[in-house]
Amino acid sequence: MDDATNIIVAIDGPAGSGKSTIARLLSRRHGFTYLDTGAMYRAVAWRALRLGVPVEDEAGVSLIAQSDPIEFGEGADGQTVSIAGCDVTDQIRTPEVDAAVSSVARIPAVRKEMVRAQRAIAGQRSVVCEGRDIGTVVFPQAQVKVFLTASPQMRARRRARQNASRGMQGASVDEAAILEGIVKRDETDSHREVAPLRAADDAVRIDTSSMSIDEVVAAIDRLIEQARQTGRG
Ligand code: DC
Repeated sequence: MDDATNIIVAIDGPAGSGKSTIARLLSRRHGFTYLDTGAMYRAVAWRALRLGVPVEDEAGVSLIAQSDPIEFGEGADGQTVSIAGCDVTDQIRTPEVDAAVSSVARIPAVRKEMVRAQRAIAGQRSVVCEGRDIGTVVFPQAQVKVFLTASPQMRARRRARQNASRGMQGASVDEAAILEGIVKRDETDSHREVAPLRAADDAVRIDTSSMSIDEVVAAIDRLIEQARQTGRG
């Protein structure tokens, strides 16, 4: 590997473990493409809700995943997400989508299509990719694999703050309600048949409960540097 070699940084972990914040910072710092795979499952869930397709309707939801393209763009406040040409950057963060997305993400045909799209987006570039199955399924060849964890209480607190900073209100910023949702989603995501949430055997586990954002970023920076050195050696 030399400087021109593409590097894949895979960041997996449960909801609220800090993946998005950390992945975004790392991608900016290194000039890598940021790929938020959760946003893709959320976009499919949003579209199903919008079209009135029940999330239990596997064939109906799969058809959406296969026929409605998901695109990422650059907005004034960061990355935007659209599906079938419709900007859904904010709509995919509502409690309705939160409640529906795990059911969508457990459908094998949906996962197959999302993985295909994720590999196509990453293509021949360096990426920081966050999700649940990045180090295990999407990019098992990633040079850097990290599994972020944190206590459920800490994750709920962070998600509440993040939502409040996005101007959300009500259940979206209620820590207890968020905690309940997080525990439910962890359960579904960890026990589904296809690509359950788990750390890859060769992933570095980082418990972020009592770490600052800068500390986590610095720890992963070291892993990226090591990967570069190893590749050069
Ligand atoms: O990271 P997030 O909260 O935006 O993820 C939304 C949902 O999508 C969550 O239920 C887990 C699921 N997901 C997945 O199954 N695989 C991924 N690579 C990313 C997210």
